[in-house]
Parts: sequence; structure tokens; C-alpha cells
Amino acid sequence: MEKQELRTFGRRHGKKLSARQTMLIDRILPTILPTNLPANTGKILEIGFGAGEHLREIARQNPGKIIIGAEPFMNGVASLLSAITNELNAVRDEYKNIRIFADDVRDFLRNTDSQFEQIWILHPDPWPKARHEKRRLLHADFLHQLSNRLTKNGEIIIGTDHWEYYDWIINQSRIADLTYTTPDIKTIRTRYQQKNMAGTQTPKYLIIHAPTH
Ligand SMILES: C[S@@+](CC[C@H](N)C(=O)[O-])C[C@H]1O[C@@H](n2cnc3c(N)ncnc32)[C@H](O)[C@@H]1O
Repeated sequence: MEKQELRTFGRRHGKKLSARQTMLIDRILPTILPTNLPANTGKILEIGFGAGEHLREIARQNPGKIIIGAEPFMNGVASLLSAITNELNAVRDEYKNIRIFADDVRDFLRNTDSQFEQIWILHPDPWPKARHEKRRLLHADFLHQLSNRLTKNGEIIIGTDHWEYYDWIINQSRIADLTYTTPDIKTIRTRYQQKNMAGTQTPKYLIIHAPTH
């Protein structure tokens, strides 16, 4: 039997959803699943999009590309659905390129052979307690798998305000023998960035580059 993967996210459900949010999950979500993706269109993946502020931004910036978001926290998915639909409950034109996988990204990746120009991971859950370290998503094996899903010149962009996790991710990237840079990116505003639970001044960013071989 296959070894069960450890859960890398906290909650799947938070406070009760509004009637509209429940309706959007029932009716709109099934129409924007990341299935039957066209082969010749550029794709961008965001893992753990939270409430989807950044996902919406990249959707607006890249109208010709498909933006896929994976997020198992249903309140986050519901917030995104509310923000991308209009008063008639139709997806707004500028967000028609969004596809949502409302679950663990590892399940999505197992069932697609898509390649991505960019993979964004902003504020991955840091699991700060030592006994929870194995729940961290960005260990060497997973980063290696992700790097193999990049198109030529593609990149994985990671940002976190948890500096200890940041150093740990850099170490995992080294273990996986990946090429990376640590650029000075202007702070990207997301809900977790605003919370800044780690209490640090700024987030730090890391870009992992597609393997050249
Ligand atoms: C700390 S929150 C950050 C949310 C958002 N990126 C932001 O900056 O506001 C981390 C998110 O990653 C999601 N997550 C954790 N493990 C995941 C996985 N295996 N697949 C997809 N999302 C995951 C969690 O559900 C959570 O919403």
C-alpha cells in the first residue's frame, strides 16, 4: 500500500459560509476546474492562494494565460469565488482565465502532465514547532518535483515572512540541487503578508529556476 502523505495545511473549513458563498461553491466552482487544459496556452500555478488576492492580480496581468490556483481551505476558495463573480453570479471577464483546484496541490499534480511558466507559493504554512516540521510542504523532494514541472526558463517564486522557514527552504533547495536566486522583490500584498504573524519586518523571496538539462 502507498505510504499516506502527511497533511501540510491547517484547516479545511473556518467560519460558516454565507448562502451566496455556498451557492458559488456548488454552482460556479464545478465550471472552473483545471481539467481539459489546452496544451498550447501558457499556464501559471499558485499553491495555497488563501483568499486569492495575488491569484486575481496575476489573472489580470496575464489575460492570455491560464491561472490555476490550488487551495484546500474552503473559506479561502469562497472568498476568491465572491471576488471573481459579478452580481449575476457570472465570472467577471478579467477573471475568466482562472481555474481552481479546491484541494491539496499534490493531488492536482498527480493527475495532470501540465507544465507551468511560473509556480507561486506565498506564505506557505511554516509549521514552526519542531515536531511538525515534517508537515512543511517545501521539502527537497517536492521542490524537485515542482522544478520538473516548469517550462523552459520557468520559475518557482516563493515568499515568506517566516525567516527560519525561508532558510530551511534554501537548504532544501540545495539538497535537491536546484538553481535559485534570492532577488529583492517588492513586497507582494496578501492576507498573510498583512497579518505578519512571524513578526518580521519584511518577507523574503526565493526564485528556483527550471533545470537546464
Ligand atoms: C499561511 S496561508 C497563506 C495564504 C496566502 N498565500 C496568503 O499569503 O495570504 C498558507 C495556505 O497554504 C494552503 N496549503 C497548505 N498546504 C497546501 C497544499 N498541500 N496544497 C494547496 N494548498 C496548501 C493552506 O490551506 C493555506 O491557505
